[in-house]
Amino acid sequence: MSALNKNSVVAVIGAGAMGAGIAQVAASAGHRVWLHDNRPGAAAQAIEGIGKQLDKRVANGKLSVEARDACLAALYPADSLEQLADAGLVIEAIVENLEIKQALLARLEALCTADCILASNTSSISITRLGAGMQRPQRLVGMHFFNPAPVMQLVEVIQGLASDADVVATVFATAQAWGKKPVLARSTPGFIVNRVARPFYAESLRLLQEGVADCASLDAVLREAGGFAMGAFELTDLIGHDVNYAVTNSVFDAYYQDMRFQPSLIQKELVDAGHFGRKSGRGFYDYREGARRPQPASLNSTAAVPEVIVEGDAGLLQPLLERLAEHQVKIHRRAGRGLLRIGDAMVALSDGRLASQRSIDEGLEQLVLLDLALDYRSCTRLALGCSADTSREALDQVVALLQKAGIAATPLRDSPALCVLRTVAMLANEAADALLQGVASAADIDLAMRAGVNYPQGPLAWADQLGAATLVRVLDHLQAAYGEERYRPSLQLRRQLAEGVPFHE
Ligand code: NAI
Repeated sequence: MSALNKNSVVAVIGAGAMGAGIAQVAASAGHRVWLHDNRPGAAAQAIEGIGKQLDKRVANGKLSVEARDACLAALYPADSLEQLADAGLVIEAIVENLEIKQALLARLEALCTADCILASNTSSISITRLGAGMQRPQRLVGMHFFNPAPVMQLVEVIQGLASDADVVATVFATAQAWGKKPVLARSTPGFIVNRVARPFYAESLRLLQEGVADCASLDAVLREAGGFAMGAFELTDLIGHDVNYAVTNSVFDAYYQDMRFQPSLIQKELVDAGHFGRKSGRGFYDYREGARRPQPASLNSTAAVPEVIVEGDAGLLQPLLERLAEHQVKIHRRAGRGLLRIGDAMVALSDGRLASQRSIDEGLEQLVLLDLALDYRSCTRLALGCSADTSREALDQVVALLQKAGIAATPLRDSPALCVLRTVAMLANEAADALLQGVASAADIDLAMRAGVNYPQGPLAWADQLGAATLVRVLDHLQAAYGEERYRPSLQLRRQLAEGVPFHE
């Protein structure tokens, strides 16, 4: 199916943050664009704002004068809805309210031609529900841009129960023609990104609530070991806790209070206090004038760097051993069950059990568990947790070894699956469940998480890298440790494991 013809007029309704951005995208792609808002003067003001943004890009040498002029010449403010009657595609980006959006769609159906495509930029309302009251629900699709729309690559194209497949395909091709990376998703709560991303926030919030570490340490671990652009606390401070908490609540309710999506009391407390994050000057961090940014906890060791004895297959820790060897650490190998002997400590990658529990289960003394890293060859920090019998000396030896390879060690209170492993396991689990329920393809789920929230790797590609067996074991251990179905492994993970096939061939 081909994209909307460049001669087709596009109308955008709602000249707020999203509507203005979407209008700019459509005009830059060569369409004539109507921008309408029911606040008098708002559309003209938004076009002025777009002009200022484009001027900045021209001044930075990122945009030609011709491209700026062409974009601005294609943007027209519309005072009334009636002016939009000639549009081939109308995208609404008005207030997030079901009744108000339904009333607008009814008026548009009466005004526009029968073959006009109607699209909604809603981030949380069901496209099926929006279409229910319409005369031609087959002409309605979701076209979910990300903020800021001119910058963010992802567009989730949402298919409601009644959406016509050809209309969906046209909108998909149009998003591509506008330089975006569209993905296809069924109309389900949170679509792809706002659903699959929930554990990224939820698991850090839990770790904080349980006193596993402070915000700065957990954020640093997610950034420097997990490869995420930001940790959960700095990111939610940026998004705004009012917004992030509301999305979590809406997804939680939409999935009939499934505990996987349970909102956090500590985030609620910030919302109750009006500490919304950067925009209000305080959130998890303090942004007020003169406030000091807390530093992550890093252990410091003056112990001699010990040799490493690898007992059996080091598995996912193999790249770490290669890195240590490059730093002149002596590595010895002998048969065993996949553990490292470092000085007086036994060391392993966490498998989701508490270090103290695993130490009892397997008869391992002074057990230090390492957290997951996106890439052990380049990470600058690793989190670790210790069994209760671990001496300061044994821990210092492990820390000295990591320091030797330029890796800072952040201590966490002994906790199931530590930080990155727990977060990635839950992201992969949610992505697998979305796949199981036919929300989107594996390729689209991963693309959505990379292009929509800048994850360093798609959660299903991460699952392939770790292996379904590892993930199921970690989740089973988390579920056993908490006794909560929140951590139940998705059937899709068990299926991949049983069938022995990866998510991506
Ligand atoms: P906003 O509050 O910045 O802008 C909404 C605009 O719509 C306002 O200018 C308002 O005057 C206008 N409006 C309200 N009711 C109207 C009506 N009946 N007719 C015409 N204009 C009307 O909101 P924002 O952030 O731009 O969001 C708009 C939509 O986009 C919502 O559905 C939201 O869920 C969705 N969205 C928001 C994202 C974000 O990060 N802000 C990201 C993706 C989607």
